[in-house]
Amino acid sequence: MDPVLALVAHHGLKLIEDAAEAIGQTYRGRPCGSFGDLSTFSFYPNKHITTGEGGMVLTDDDDLAATCRGLRNLCFQPGKRFVHERLGWNLRMTNLQAALGLAQLERLDEFIARKRAMGAAYTERLREVPGLQLPLAATDTAENVYWVYGVVLEEALGFDAEEAMRRLGALGIGTRPFFWPMHEQPVLRGMGLFVGEEYPVAEELARRGFYLPSGLALTEAQQEHVATAMRELLG
Ligand SMILES: Cc1ncc(COP(=O)(O)O)c(C=O)c1O
Repeated sequence: MDPVLALVAHHGLKLIEDAAEAIGQTYRGRPCGSFGDLSTFSFYPNKHITTGEGGMVLTDDDDLAATCRGLRNLCFQPGKRFVHERLGWNLRMTNLQAALGLAQLERLDEFIARKRAMGAAYTERLREVPGLQLPLAATDTAENVYWVYGVVLEEALGFDAEEAMRRLGALGIGTRPFFWPMHEQPVLRGMGLFVGEEYPVAEELARRGFYLPSGLALTEAQQEHVATAMRELLG
């Protein structure tokens, strides 16, 4: 975040922080989602806490908050309900979803403790597997909350993440690919963006990285089953 914050300060920009899956994560001890003028979270079911669908926008700017509330609710004017001075959407969260979200929020620490235990268990089991880069438990600025357990295959293995995921799938083990780089997105290329540009780190990660099963309900026996499959695949 430090380079982003420096850029924002230097150019006098507003910062929109996409903290979709970073709830419970900190950067230099400060919660992710507390850096932006606007910070956004996703409560999609694969996140630490869920409301089924939907999410949350945080801001401490009253004007931005009022704008967000308006956009969420068809931009009704406070005084004139069916007169719209700008376009809005129906992005309202129901009370039932919000109640679920509050109950989930109360358990965030418990969920993160569980994810950290799962992350440590995977690392313990996969540490000796050749050709595999594992996620770090901590860096100088953050301690991993293991939203998902991502692994990266080394090039020398001779097969990519797609092939590894196919082989694991044949053993009944579900995985997910890493994000695909923006500059290789057909929709953006079709708009004439990123022509001739290369970003080798993103390209390599997209092709060699994937996530192991990471749901909160995963048992130790299931983690061992995944680790055994990985050892057979790569060993
Ligand atoms: C970084 C990031 N931003 C945005 C989103 C989108 O969130 P949603 O599906 O709740 O709109 C995701 C979803 O995983 C994400 O990972």
